[in-house]
Amino acid sequence: MEFNLQFNEIPQSATVAVADKVLRLKAAGKEIIPLQVGDPDFRTPQGIVDAAGQSLQAGLTHYGPSRGFLDLRQAIAARVQKRVSGCGNGKAYDPEREIIVTHGGVHAYYVAMQSILNPGDEALIPDPSWATHTNMVRLLRGKAVPVAASPENGFLPLIEAWESAITPKTKAMVINYPANPTGAVPDYAYMEALLGIARKHNIWVISDEVYDNIYYGEEPVSAAGFAEHRDHVILINSFSKTFAMTGWRIGYIAGPERLIDNALKASQNSITSVAPFIQKGAQFALTDKKVQEEILEMRQTYARRRAIILEIAEEFNESPVKVIPPKGAFYFFLDFRPLKIPSVDLCERILDEAGVGLVPGVAFGAQGEGFARLCFAASDADVRNGIRAIMDWADRQ
Ligand SMILES: Cc1ncc(COP(=O)(O)O)c(C=O)c1O
Repeated sequence: MEFNLQFNEIPQSATVAVADKVLRLKAAGKEIIPLQVGDPDFRTPQGIVDAAGQSLQAGLTHYGPSRGFLDLRQAIAARVQKRVSGCGNGKAYDPEREIIVTHGGVHAYYVAMQSILNPGDEALIPDPSWATHTNMVRLLRGKAVPVAASPENGFLPLIEAWESAITPKTKAMVINYPANPTGAVPDYAYMEALLGIARKHNIWVISDEVYDNIYYGEEPVSAAGFAEHRDHVILINSFSKTFAMTGWRIGYIAGPERLIDNALKASQNSITSVAPFIQKGAQFALTDKKVQEEILEMRQTYARRRAIILEIAEEFNESPVKVIPPKGAFYFFLDFRPLKIPSVDLCERILDEAGVGLVPGVAFGAQGEGFARLCFAASDADVRNGIRAIMDWADRQ
């Protein structure tokens, strides 16, 4: 019997491989500091849980509207509007026609790609980048074209590199700022230049902004914050990271009406609709005042942990490891290149010999070779002990 050949193009998830090994080691009684998973260690704020629980009790247990509840879409439009007015000159999205509630950020990205990609079309993706950005394109029979995002350039592809990668088959550029795994955040001028290229070559920009609330300097600029380029932008977001709601599986996509019409068909034929009680929890997340304070506290906590890592790293001033401060998201992309150890072996050894779980940089693209991703959405103690164990280990090499 034959299988879908596309799956031959998709590697097994390196994050899952590390997570499995961590579980095995723990089961064998070994103490492991798990800094591999990109999942906030906070509980979902209680108000959100209560709002969803009440809706569940009240009987919201049937199909919901396939675009999502209108009042949730209105709350999403208001959030995007607030954000783009703070960091650009965007205009509001129409909640009736330009927004759909999705089954998390992954599904938002899936319906975005599904809506625009024909077999053989190319999508430009920074390397390194979250693996699903590339894998989804392959699953949909497109061609993922990596564009190098070197650490020497703040992990941002040079604007000329984006442009020279464009061919007549290019359909989209995929961006994700703040970035997983590098924490990169571009400035206004960079985003403006990038969107200018998209307009010039008439291609889409899919902007995955799931980490938009997690940043350590200026608020990141949204691709939707440029009114004149809005017709080329597909905005993707999620409740997972900002509200510590990874298990709820809810997100959204916003874009021009024609695009959303396609995305709706993709969504109706893949998930039908997002569970209505989950939507009520999400609506509470966006509109409740106390929740906004709680997510601000989460950001401050991430900032404290980031500072702990930088402070400890500074003690190791002769270290072969370069600890590059991320501008956003909750990851360090640690540069182990001077050790000249392939990143898969490196992470295996750090797990076995230092007891810390990290993700091999190569899981994010060829440019990630020699790096490893550390997630600091973990307790202060784990972050403190984890970075010290890594730096000590590196000193012994
Ligand atoms: C860059 C990026 N986009 C999207 C997602 C997926 O988010 P969700 O849990 O909403 O599907 C992740 C999760 O790790 C991510 O890192």
